[in-house]
Amino acid sequence: MGKKSLQPNNDFCPQTLFLYGTYDENGDPHFGLFCWFSYIWDNEMGVMCCIGGSKPTRTNIERNKIFSANLVTEELLPVADYLGTVSGENQDKMKIALDIGKGEVLDVPVLNNSPVNFELEVKEFITISDGEVMLCKIRNVLQDESLSSDESVAQKLARIAPIRTTAQTYLGYDGRDLGAWGEPMKSL
Ligand SMILES: Cc1cc2nc3c(=O)[nH]c(=O)nc-3n(C[C@H](O)[C@H](O)[C@H](O)COP(=O)(O)O)c2cc1C
Repeated sequence: MGKKSLQPNNDFCPQTLFLYGTYDENGDPHFGLFCWFSYIWDNEMGVMCCIGGSKPTRTNIERNKIFSANLVTEELLPVADYLGTVSGENQDKMKIALDIGKGEVLDVPVLNNSPVNFELEVKEFITISDGEVMLCKIRNVLQDESLSSDESVAQKLARIAPIRTTAQTYLGYDGRDLGAWGEPMKSL
């Protein structure tokens, strides 16, 4: 089969979604949706991520140097889509119902109904022309106790149902089309 050359894009390369939790300058919890998130090795596993442009989540992380990354599941998708579609510059953005807890090691807000929460400390900010790459130490991983059951990894993933995204579309863990970016939030 032939190939065609395209402008830079990552279509058909599914990514996992996370809600980053920070505190704003008044100490209020703030959440935004992110997918440019992966892992690094530096004597132990760490995290690398990129935030493009300026946005409140970036400002909060630059100020506090800590944040949480909360795995997005099907249950969280409508609210995650909202938190990725509505800018934090909108003063009313965080006036939605969220079950928010606290990290166990770092002073970061976490989402109680996400089954995996990373507590992250930024060790290095790499500023690029219109964004920032952050290299982070994983200070703690909070994982639902149900993920320690005897089920297989496949059964556990099917149960918690993490969302994947590519080509501006949300997909279920089993590949179902869960709508274009901006659609799931309409059910809120
Ligand atoms: C599916 C999806 C994934 C996103 N991933 C990223 C990302 O990895 N990096 C980024 O800078 N913005 C990303 N965004 C955009 C942010 O979610 C958006 O700018 C949001 O307003 C950030 O929250 P804040 O404005 O409250 O800081 C994504 C948006 C969507 C819908």
